[in-house]
Parts: sequence; C-alpha cells; structure tokens
Amino acid sequence: INDIKGGPDEGLDRLGQTLVVKGWVRTTRVQSTVTFIEVNDGSCVSNMQCVMSPDAEGYDEVKSGLITTGASVCVQGIIVPSQGSKQKVEMNVRKIDMVGKSDPSYPIQKKRASREFLRIQAHLRPRTNTFGAIARVRNALAYATHKFFQENGFVWISSPIITASDCEGAGEQFCATTLIPSSHEATDSRVDAIPQTKEGLIDWTQDFFGKRASLTVSGQLNAETYATALTDVYTFGPTFRAENSNTSRHLAEFWMIEPELAFADLNDDMACATAYLQYVVKYILENCKEDMDFFNTWIEKGIINRLSDVVEKDFLQLTYTDAIKLLLKANKKFEFPVKWGCDLQSEHERYITEQAFGGRPLIIRDYPKEIKAFYMRQNDDEKTVAAMDLLVPRVGELIGGSQREERLEYLEARLDDLKLDKESYWWYLDLRRYGSVPHAGFGLGFERLVQFATGIDNIRDAIPFPRTPGSAEF
Ligand code: 4AD
Ligand code: MG
Repeated sequence: INDIKGGPDEGLDRLGQTLVVKGWVRTTRVQSTVTFIEVNDGSCVSNMQCVMSPDAEGYDEVKSGLITTGASVCVQGIIVPSQGSKQKVEMNVRKIDMVGKSDPSYPIQKKRASREFLRIQAHLRPRTNTFGAIARVRNALAYATHKFFQENGFVWISSPIITASDCEGAGEQFCATTLIPSSHEATDSRVDAIPQTKEGLIDWTQDFFGKRASLTVSGQLNAETYATALTDVYTFGPTFRAENSNTSRHLAEFWMIEPELAFADLNDDMACATAYLQYVVKYILENCKEDMDFFNTWIEKGIINRLSDVVEKDFLQLTYTDAIKLLLKANKKFEFPVKWGCDLQSEHERYITEQAFGGRPLIIRDYPKEIKAFYMRQNDDEKTVAAMDLLVPRVGELIGGSQREERLEYLEARLDDLKLDKESYWWYLDLRRYGSVPHAGFGLGFERLVQFATGIDNIRDAIPFPRTPGSAEF
C-alpha cells in the first residue's frame, strides 16, 4: 500500500493499473449498491479503500458477512480516483479472496482501545495504527543508527549477553539462573541442576557451568577492548537490569547503543552524541513522514516542531555544579532535597529540561565521582569525573557516557576505594597496561529514543514485547 500511496502523487501515478493488495481488514461498510472495505498491510498508516460492487468476484463472501474486521484478504482491482476526501485513490475491486477468517471475538475493534488494554493484547497490537507506526519508526531508528556509525568509520561489535563482569557495579544484574546445560536437565530435575551452597541453598552466583555469570547490564567494557584496537566501535544489542522499578522509563530488558571512541575525550564524546542524535532524528523526519504526521496528530501535538528544533539547534551544556546551583535557586520544593553530591532524580531532571531550559535536550557534565561508576575518568579537581548525561524532556536521561579512566594507577585506586575485586577486572586493567589511550563513550537506551522520537509516553509501548517486573508472557 505504501508502494502505491506513499509516493509524492499519493497514488495518482498509478491510475488505471490493475494491482493486488494483501492485508488485514480494518473495517467493512456495506451499502445497498457498494461495499467499502478498508485494508491495511502494515506498510504505512494508510489503508487501501477497496470499493466493491455486487458483480465483483468473491462478493458472496462479502454478502454473507465473512469479511469482518481482522480477517486477512487478497484483493485485486484497478486504481481509480477516490470520491472521498480522505485519499486521492482507491481500488475498484475485481476480485476478493478470503485468506483467513476472523472470529467475531477479535479484540481490536474500531473503537479506540486503551494502551493498557493493548499491552495485554501484545500479539495483536501491531495491527493498530499506533503500534504499526511505532514499529516502523523503531526500525528506521535502528537502520539510521547503523547508517550513522558506518558512515563515520565505526565498526559494529557484538558484545556478550552472558558475562561475569558487572559494568555499572550497581548490583542490578540478573543471575543467569536458567543457563543450565541441557544434559543436566535430562537427568536431574531443574532445581537439582542449580548449584547449591554447603547449606543446601541455591547458589545464585555459581550457575554458569559452575562459574559466576549474569546477564549483561552494558557492553561497554567489551567495547573498550575493541576500541583500543580498532579505534572507533559501537555495540547495539540487548541489555538487562534487575531493577524492580515500575516506571514509564525502565525496562528489565532494553536495547542499548554504545559507541566507544579511542583517542577521544569527553568533548569528543559529547560531540558524537549530539551528531548521532541529530542524525537519527533528521532521518526519521525525512523518511517516516506519514508516521510522524500520525504521531503529531494523535500522540504528541507539536512533536514534529520539537524534533526539528533538535536537529537545527546545538544542545545546551552545563556542569553538574551549575545544575545544582540552578536547582537550589529554583523556587520549588522537591521531594528529594538538593545538595551538591546528590544524584539527580527525575523531578530534578524534569525541572531542568522542561522548565529551566524550555524543553530542549541538554547535557550535564562533570558529576561527583561518588555517584558515578568506577571506570569514569577523574577530573583534576579530584571531586568530579568526566561524565555526561544527555537529558531530554519527559523521558529524562536518554544518554549516559563518560571519558574512561585510562591511567592504571587511578583505576586501581578507584577499584580499591569501591572494594571491587581487582582480580576479576584483570583483563580490563590490561588495556591500561598495554598501550593505553584516552578514550570515551556513551550508552543510549534505544527504547527511550523511541519514546523521544514518537512521543509515546510509556516505555512499555516502545518495544514490541516489554519485559518489566512480572511480565514475560508473550
Ligand atoms: O547510564 P547507564 O546505566 O550507562 C551505562 O550502562 C554505560 N555503561 C553506558 C556507556 O557509557 N557505554 O545506561 C545508559 C542508558 C541510559 O542513559 C538510559 O537511556 C538507558 O541506558 N537505560 C535504560 N533504559 C531502559 N530501561 C532501563 N532500566 C534502563 N537503564 C538504563
Ligand atoms: Mg546513567
């Protein structure tokens, strides 16, 4: 359908052609002399309006009420100018084939269903306009991501999903409890196969063939090894966080894009994050026009202007220290009191992005080292690290990144301070022993990017099958 109607002439260039459309029936409207069937094939928001008179082949099935919402059909007909005002062309049906009937219990009827309802219909929600458009824009963002990095000489690296290292050191790893060799399963019960401690308790930390392993929280440490060999690399893959938080911006399983740049400092990192974000936003504005118009009308009024602004203007930058000053000056009572050294909560981020700086993306840099991960490079003031977070309105933190500590003695001292086991980071420390270079990178949560780019307010609607506490049915 997009092939026919998606061009600049909206299908007028196809007048007179006999074509076939295969898709799912959105609605059927039977009138005395003609029947209108709206068919959607998922290629775009637009349906093909199929107009059928009683002499068309297959009309019997229409007459007997078999062509109902949700049914799959194959329609052949001629493209003609449309009488209606909603579209330039429609299809004058010659023949309709019923491919798969739809039971009257089909849950996605014409009236608008709530997002909550659609989450429990996750297998059918891609057939709605909203979720079809989100899926296409998500796809375009992924494509544009690879395109951006490939055009700029980055090499894509697959980082492992099962790992023994905890990149963020925040204790948010899922233990790989079900990663039991299948040979075990054949003989033992599942529970017996899980390693146990002396006391007979399940040893959640020794479960990967007898070794400690978890699902990765970030591919960064692995990306650093390749950046210190190939210079500029990026990862794009699933990551996991065992944070039991029920918010509109946290998932237990999300996709992360993590570029890592060698011979680069925090300024290079921020420049890369800015160029990347502007590139992918511009890409969808130019290549997903119909879907973006749909979001602009139905999901977030004004999103196109908001995103055009992102592409055209530089992002503001301020230091953490200045952000704290600004929050202290704000004539506002926050739930979490503000003082230098505190972690910025979403209420603080919201105030800064939405009120103080009028809804534009901005970057906060140089955070206190106590609230940031062990690998971030210490600044000369010895109190802050070369970290940056890119914040956007509503979504909050879209990107978190930093320059990495490339000095062996500083990194070892930091691991000691945090009582992290130096032994297990031996390979990471080796990167600082053999040809260490200044390097920097960031992580962008892909679903938060989808939220930002579509205006959809809950992260559960930005990924086909969201994984949140207690939901893994589909
Ligand atoms: O700030 P985070 O925790 O940073 C890292 O993992 C670094 N190792 C990245 C790097 O420098 N290579 O996570 C990065 C981004 C966040 O800014 C956020 O967009 C997203 O990942 N994110 C989540 N998205 C959805 N659900 C969650 N639970 C998320 N946790 C982080
Ligand atoms: Mg972060």
